[in-house]
Formats: sequence, C-alpha cells, structure tokens
Amino acid sequence: MRNLLSLFDLSTAEMESIFSIAADLKAKLAKGVREPLLQGQVMGLLFEKQSLRTRVSFETGMAQLGGSSLFLGEDVGWGKREAPQDFGRVISQYLDFIVCRAKSHDKVTELATHCTCSIINGLTDLFHPCQALADLMTVKEEFGSLKGLKIAYVGDGNNVSRSLALACAKMGAEFFIAAPKGYELDQPFLVRVDQACPDAVVQQTHDPFEAVEGAVAVYTDVWASMGQEAEQAQREIDFADFQVNKKLMDAAAKDAIFLHCLPAKRGQEVTDEVMDCKTSRIVEQAGNRMHAQKGVLVWLSQQKGK
Ligand code: CP
Ligand code: NVA
Repeated sequence: MRNLLSLFDLSTAEMESIFSIAADLKAKLAKGVREPLLQGQVMGLLFEKQSLRTRVSFETGMAQLGGSSLFLGEDVGWGKREAPQDFGRVISQYLDFIVCRAKSHDKVTELATHCTCSIINGLTDLFHPCQALADLMTVKEEFGSLKGLKIAYVGDGNNVSRSLALACAKMGAEFFIAAPKGYELDQPFLVRVDQACPDAVVQQTHDPFEAVEGAVAVYTDVWASMGQEAEQAQREIDFADFQVNKKLMDAAAKDAIFLHCLPAKRGQEVTDEVMDCKTSRIVEQAGNRMHAQKGVLVWLSQQKGK
C-alpha cells in the first residue's frame, strides 16, 4: 500500500510509469475504450476547501475505471469529531483510496499514519502533486519529452510551484521561479529537492524576465491562495511586477506555451490576452488532471501487496 502525499513519495521511474499508464488510458478513452481496471473499488474525497477540477476529475476518472466515489465534506467531522487514530482506522476499512484536500499538510500526513488504504494529496498548503503530474503530462505532450526543457514559473512560492519544481527536478526539466522578495521557495524545501535530485536545475530569481528567458513553458498561479484572502490586498502590491502578460510571454522562447493550474484571477497574475492566446494550454492542462490521476489510481492499485 503506497500513498501520494508529495512527489517525494515517487521515484523518477515511478513517475514515468504513471505518465505511461495515463497516456495509455487517455489514448484508449479517445477511441471510446474504458477499461474497468478498478471495478468495485471505492474512493473517498475528504475535502476541507472548494474544488472544481480536483473533485470532478477524480470522480469522473474513477467512474471511467469502473470504480465509485464518495464526496466527504464537513459532515464526517475530520479532525473535529473524534481522535485521528479512530477516524483513520475506521474510514480506511471502507475505502480503497482517500483523496484529501486539507488546510494543513501535517493533517494529511497524520491521517496517512492511521490508514490502511492509499492516501492521495488533492492539495494542501505545501503541495499539489496531482497538479504537477498533469502539468508535466501537458508539457510532455507538447514537446515529446521533458529532459533539458526550461520551465519558468512566475509568482508565489506556494503549493503549486513547490510541486512543479520537484516534478521538474525528478524528470530532468530545468525549473526557474521568479518570485517577489519574501515569497520565494523556502530553503528547507530546496535543500530537500537537492538531496533527492542532486543533478537538478532549480533556480530562483526576483526578475520575471530572467526566469522566462529561453523557457518553453511559462506558468503562473494566483497571488493569494485559498486561506490567504486576508493577505490579498498586500499581495496585489507585492506581486504587481509579476504579471504574466504579452510582453513577458514575448521574452520567453518562441511559441512558449502558457500554463496555469486554475482557477485564475484574470487581470491580476495573468492577462486575458495570455489566458486565451493560441499557445495557452490551460484547458488541455485541466483536462490532463483526469488522465494523470487515473494513472495515479491505477499505479497505486498495482502497488498493493508488493
Ligand atoms: N487546479 C485545481 O486544483 O483546481 P481546483 O481547486 O478547482 O480543484
Ligand atoms: N495555490 C492555489 C492553487 C489552487 C488550485 C491554492 O492553494 O489556492
């Protein structure tokens, strides 16, 4: 039984296996073939925050694989009604997978210690691994491979950029982030990435133009994540020079693609013009959430009993 709490849980070869399963299932689905690889299996979605993509793509993906899912919101009382060991030991008897979207990564880590089924991180304050898998699946589809490609992220050193940095490091893509002072990726995380992937290129700058130079993909996310609403006004000031607009896209490699995990605040971190430009891949990227996560579910089911 394996978990996916962050991409530190996966080796490069395991990520490649997930991409390969995902691509195979995506190609089959395009031909109308839905293999019931998870028939009879049940996934619970334990969500403390809003979601469109993660919730719907996991539920539809599971249905296509012949399994079923239960959306579990506030009413099950995770962290509120009973001790974590009672909650975890009980709920994991019923389920084959639990997808968690939680305010605190530690809460998900603790749940995993008490569960006997696979736990998948569907976004925490620290990581968004399923997003990064879909992101790199999208880049791989565009360019054929990931090795040596430069990917630029302009914005907050948050859950999305942390997972993207690690995904790039594991897959041999170069990752450059431009964040304002005080919003960079934290040093303990960067040290951990360096230990896990000593040959990786992960670089930080405060200059968006330096980050995007030669980049084949330019990525951004909201300036204030869910739970940071009180910081919105200050962040709008601090991130004012970090908008992805046509001028910045023109400074990247020719025909660079634009990526965003969504939801976006159009007019803030990115202009409408870039969101809707011909090299924007935001819709394909969101579509790949479902395919990548089907890869995760099938791969995790293959690990049981190993
Ligand atoms: N990108 C993403 O995780 O979207 P949702 O918040 O809608 O799930
Ligand atoms: N960084 C954003 C991502 C949403 C998918 C957040 O945590 O709200």
